[in-house]
Amino acid sequence: MKPAIAALIGIALLTATVAKAEDTGPGLGEIMTLQQLRHIKLWFAGRAGNWPLADYEVGELSEGFEDVDKLLGGETVGKMVGGPMKELQKAVDDKNAAGFAAAFDHLTAGCNSCHHTLDHAFIAIQRPTSLPYSNQNFAPQK
Ligand code: HEC
Repeated sequence: MKPAIAALIGIALLTATVAKAEDTGPGLGEIMTLQQLRHIKLWFAGRAGNWPLADYEVGELSEGFEDVDKLLGGETVGKMVGGPMKELQKAVDDKNAAGFAAAFDHLTAGCNSCHHTLDHAFIAIQRPTSLPYSNQNFAPQK
């Protein structure tokens, strides 16, 4: 086989594999498990005044919500958590601890209103009370 043809076949196979991976990408439940983890980490990052970490977790949460948005379509995600996510980003940018706590509670309320709207009211999210990640130091780093 000529190298050019072999390369073309290679590209075709690769494209097919990527397309398949997209079809069978993580479902809503899997994405939500990650959102739950980030929700916890975000809270403790903000509480510790580790604003770069809080900023990172807000970014991860928003990427997760973008994936949810692609799966659900429509405007559900924006309606439920769009406002609180902006509020959180602003509080983190301003290093505003009180604003952060308020915005975090608004986000949590947004999580729950979506669960209500989409028939999952039994999944009730709240402010975390303890940090399960003892292998990560949340204190601000120099
Ligand atoms: C756009 C709507 C929507 C938003 C916003 C939303 N959720 Fe969900 N969530 C769902 C739906 C629907 C399910 C059920 C998914 C499934 O398993 O099919 C779910 C499931 C979950 C689960 C159960 C996962 C498991 O397997 O145990 C957790 C935990 C969760 N969400 C946390 C959150 C958190 C935390 C937020 C906010 C930071 C959030 N969700 C925001 C719609 C939403």
